[in-house]
Amino acid sequence: MSNTQTNNIYPIFDRMMGREDKETLLKQRSVMVWFTGLSGSGKSTIAIALERELHQRGLLCRILDGDNIRSGINNNLGFSAEDRVENIRRIAEVSKLFIDTGVITIAAFISPNNELREMASSIIGKENFLEIYVNTPIEECERRDVKGLYAKARKGEIKDFTGVSAPFEAPEHPALSLDTSVLSLEESVNKLLELILPKVGA
Ligand code: ADX
Repeated sequence: MSNTQTNNIYPIFDRMMGREDKETLLKQRSVMVWFTGLSGSGKSTIAIALERELHQRGLLCRILDGDNIRSGINNNLGFSAEDRVENIRRIAEVSKLFIDTGVITIAAFISPNNELREMASSIIGKENFLEIYVNTPIEECERRDVKGLYAKARKGEIKDFTGVSAPFEAPEHPALSLDTSVLSLEESVNKLLELILPKVGA
């Protein structure tokens, strides 16, 4: 019998290709770009603009946000503290799969406290994790009220609404803070590119 069959070491053709193989194939390194901030702060808008810029530079990205996660894999979850933990846990596990595929992964979720974000970071790996705080003031988020949810929350029609009737804890040491009431979209994206491009090898 050959060595590989007797010593329980998997022969090389039985093993899945690893992150480094994928990164070499894609000619990029993967990183997790994790946006946190209030509803209406601009997380998804910045994520989409960032993806476009990275894509144009030949870099493969995947955005995870409420549109594709809370309507699909997490459509059985609400906004209780417990459901928010499960929401972020699943998002982090899915993100880890993308990171291990060499894909630059961009998540845009409120993720309203340090414990949740630390859980995500430890699932994904701290060395991969860039925490970006979109710190647009609540007055501005509420003024925009793109989805009309702040008005409903103020009237008590939505309970446990982040910033109104549920807490938001600011990150302690974000890699970057972006206030979209002060910065243009282009300025925010440029700051992100400065941070991200050296890490992904572009
Ligand atoms: S998180 O707190 O679990 O991270 P997530 O980012 O997935 O939240 O979803 C937030 C989005 O869900 C908001 O932008 C808003 O459109 C919608 N939403 C509905 N109900 C609530 C609520 N009670 N609190 C916050 N966001 C809510």
